Amino acid sequence: MECVRKVTDDLYWVGGNDRRLALFENIFPISRGVSYNSYLLMDEKTVLLDTADRSISEQFFENITAVLGEHSLDILVVNHMEPDHCALIGDLVRRYPKLQIIGNAKTFQMMQQFFDFDIDGRSIVVKEGDTFDSGKHELHFVMAPMVHWPEAMVTYDATDKILFSADGFGSFGALPGSIFADELDFDRDWLDDARRYYTNIVGKYGSSVQALLKKAAGLDIQMICPLHGPVWREDLGYILDKYQKWSTYEPEEKGVVIAYASMYGNTENAANACACKLADRGVRKIAVYDVSNTDVSELIAEIFRYSHLVLAAPTYNGAIYPKMEHLLLDMKALNVQGRTVALVENGTWAATTAKQMHAQLEALKNMTVLDAELSIKSALKNDQGTQLDALCDAIAASVKES
Ligand code: FEO
Repeated sequence: MECVRKVTDDLYWVGGNDRRLALFENIFPISRGVSYNSYLLMDEKTVLLDTADRSISEQFFENITAVLGEHSLDILVVNHMEPDHCALIGDLVRRYPKLQIIGNAKTFQMMQQFFDFDIDGRSIVVKEGDTFDSGKHELHFVMAPMVHWPEAMVTYDATDKILFSADGFGSFGALPGSIFADELDFDRDWLDDARRYYTNIVGKYGSSVQALLKKAAGLDIQMICPLHGPVWREDLGYILDKYQKWSTYEPEEKGVVIAYASMYGNTENAANACACKLADRGVRKIAVYDVSNTDVSELIAEIFRYSHLVLAAPTYNGAIYPKMEHLLLDMKALNVQGRTVALVENGTWAATTAKQMHAQLEALKNMTVLDAELSIKSALKNDQGTQLDALCDAIAASVKES
């Protein structure tokens, strides 16, 4: 049976949810599933905005068949060619042979790479500022290169003031029947997944997101329809503010993430002692994670969230403990910048991790590494209390100043 929601008088959500997939992109754990949003505009010409992932194809086709009724599908707008949204284009063309497809030059280049059907005979190539009149609605096409693929674009319905934002403003998490952010407790239940989605999928491309936000600022937007997660029709300032911060790498909160690696519990003890002393010093937002049992995507999201970071790790084979090194490599890959970091190292015979972590952090933009460091030989002893105090004094003072 179809499973659709009405978005406006003539716009329908015709997407679907996948709660079985364990890893999005075969990388990111999604314990709450994911939605693949698709939107069908019932105008004089019927317009579908993006298809969906193959995993929900049956539901997707039931949905569009039910909404179309006696009508055929005239137009497909392809805002993004990643397969979680484009996978069903070939099937769609077979069902609706007269379908015309709107995309930009790069869209069709990628489509040729993914598909074998006759593309040239049905393509409408658009560029920045081009429009398409479907009858009552006037669609404007806005290029969004590298948010987060080169062909990405967004579509603005000037009639109803709706931005179809592709991956922008998306989130992990399957939709529970409610598809609008105002039908959910977004801040409580969705923000963490939205942050984790943004920072890990789009986080590297902050300047591209900034360019898109500047273009969006020139539009009167009353609703945002992303390709994953809830639709925004109220309090758009809330999510726009998050995107402004995330895309400029500005922390959302003054606080400290302590990410530690510990083989036998000794570095963990130092991390916990540090957390207690920070709390004693009035730091109110402290998050502590074991890098060995926390997915790196969660660590990245938390590092985007908070202003300060403590990295604590043992030396391993003369190098940085591998799980910690993975985090540092991911921080570089995702363009983490502008954070203040304190380092704690551990080693039974030759602790060199702090120096090596410092070198990796220097490759990131605008990072401040505090001079106070803590070097542990095997286990933190009481006679290092002064050193730990100095480290925590420096972190707490820096949090206060930030
Ligand atoms: Fe949801 Fe970049 O695809």
